Amino acid sequence: MMINRLKAALGAVAVGLLAGTSLAHAQNADEDLIKKGEYVARLGDCVACHTSLNGQKYAGGLSIKTPIGTIYSTNITPDPTYGIGTYTFKEFDEAVRHGVRKDGATLYPAMPYPSFARMTQDDMKALYAYFMHGVQPIAQKNHPTDISWPMSMRWPLSIWRSVFAPAPKDFTPAPGTDAEIARGEYLVTGPGHCGACHTPRGFGMQEKALDASGGPDFLGGGGVIDNWIAPSLRNDPVLGLGRWSDEDLFLFLKSGRTDHSAAFGGMADVVGWSTQYFTDADLHAMVKYIKSLPPVPPARGDYSYDASTAQMLDSNNFSGNAGAKTYVEQCAICHRNDGGGVARMFPPLAGNPVVVSDNPTSVAHIVVDGGVLPPTNWAPSAVAMPDYKNILSDQQIADVVNFIRSAWGNRAPANTTAADIQKLRLDHTPLPTPGWANATEESATWGLFMPQPYGAGWTFAPQTHAGVDEAQ
Ligand code: HEC
Ligand code: HEC
Ligand code: HEC
Repeated sequence: MMINRLKAALGAVAVGLLAGTSLAHAQNADEDLIKKGEYVARLGDCVACHTSLNGQKYAGGLSIKTPIGTIYSTNITPDPTYGIGTYTFKEFDEAVRHGVRKDGATLYPAMPYPSFARMTQDDMKALYAYFMHGVQPIAQKNHPTDISWPMSMRWPLSIWRSVFAPAPKDFTPAPGTDAEIARGEYLVTGPGHCGACHTPRGFGMQEKALDASGGPDFLGGGGVIDNWIAPSLRNDPVLGLGRWSDEDLFLFLKSGRTDHSAAFGGMADVVGWSTQYFTDADLHAMVKYIKSLPPVPPARGDYSYDASTAQMLDSNNFSGNAGAKTYVEQCAICHRNDGGGVARMFPPLAGNPVVVSDNPTSVAHIVVDGGVLPPTNWAPSAVAMPDYKNILSDQQIADVVNFIRSAWGNRAPANTTAADIQKLRLDHTPLPTPGWANATEESATWGLFMPQPYGAGWTFAPQTHAGVDEAQ
């Protein structure tokens, strides 16, 4: 009798203990999953697009320009009415990897589901756990798109999706791929969606290549995004990363600044909200992958520094070069007469790929509006470049842009005009690129039958938070 009772009591204790531990286990497992999901959300930079300027995290409302009108990112907090609180895992997965909303409508590919399609089920489950349980629900209504009928109909998007977006499929590296390179490929082509900005888009606004099998277009330099241009990440020594060491690339992604360059525009959002949080191992994997991409033929030869510019500037004899004079008066204090800048503070302009890109929009934009280097945990000071729209005339800005694009051995087309600058300053119109892709505001409209030039407005252009948003 006694013994039985004791046995029962012990049993109860044991059961209680077991239950207790397994509960704790389950809780830990959930917390681990949510934590992992939080990291996956960093990998995908969901926050940059799903947060409006100075808005609440993940509550949506950021405007994204497309050639047919403006669309807005949506509320992806777990709010049951305005957010995605009622999404099942399957519905969440369909939206993120396949571009199909809960109500069956197709999403605009401004949401980078063609890249997310290759995210693994493990990462998706963690991401779902995070958005359901790790994110604060916020009751904020979605902003309707500013696209008018008939372009506002979503059914053509489903045709687009079936033609251009890959079916969701967990990433599997080619057999024999080095494990670190495979991880890097997954991060760059999948959650990191680097190609969304760095790969040119084709007639259908699709990225011309989603991975290296697509040839030199892949990460070969993108279009105008919120008036910033994402340069080539291939090995071109002038226009790409050919002269960057592994360490440069690692530091750039981790801290936003290297001796050669500084992050600005859309890339400041990427570094400030995404890559600075990546583990060193993941950053090294991305670097290794990017550096392992097949070489592309250099489009403009090699870069060699030309010391005669610095001599001219030092001698204060500008021989009628108005841009050079403005440079010495306004810019040289930070970027120096030799164009070399000051390491980790003021980026060099000599041999800098962003200065010599075919289209001068980025360069003109930063002179007009200035820039703030994103403060990162690894480089906390927010160093700023002043804006010159109220200091210099349109002509002076055009002259100085043309000057830096052709000084110190830089050999970019130097044909920016005062009219270009005025349009950029007043109407935020990107600068045209000479040649076939000479898109103007008028020509870069949506055409169903006409192949459209690639350029003005001809891409998805999320607003950038850099320099605007404290919360970044
Ligand atoms: C480059 C910008 C961008 C990024 C990065 C991005 N999204 Fe989106 N997302 C959008 C836009 C824009 C929409 C709305 C598209 C539409 O209305 O057709 C959207 C829609 C969605 C939807 C559908 C929501 C609904 O209202 O039904 C989900 C879910 C979603 N995104 C989740 C994510 C997650 C998770 C990530 C990170 C892994 C992410 N997004 C990253 C731009 C982005
Ligand atoms: C929202 C668009 C966008 C996305 C997404 C994006 N970038 Fe960028 N990137 C830019 C822009 C714009 C620039 C030019 C400004 C600058 O140099 O910071 C740039 C510049 C860079 C540079 C410096 C190139 C140079 O020559 O100075 C590197 C390296 C880079 N990006 C890597 C990446 C990687 C890796 C990813 C994916 C994790 C990525 N980017 C995703 C827009 C983007
Ligand atoms: C007070 C110092 C300062 C002055 C003066 C200055 N800049 Fe800058 N410049 C910067 C900083 C800091 C950055 C990086 C900003 C960022 O990343 O957002 C920068 C970035 C740039 C870039 C982009 C290069 C890159 O890789 O990030 C260009 C082009 C540029 N400046 C041109 C000019 C021109 C032209 C002038 C004169 C009209 C000028 N700057 C005056 C500090 C300065």
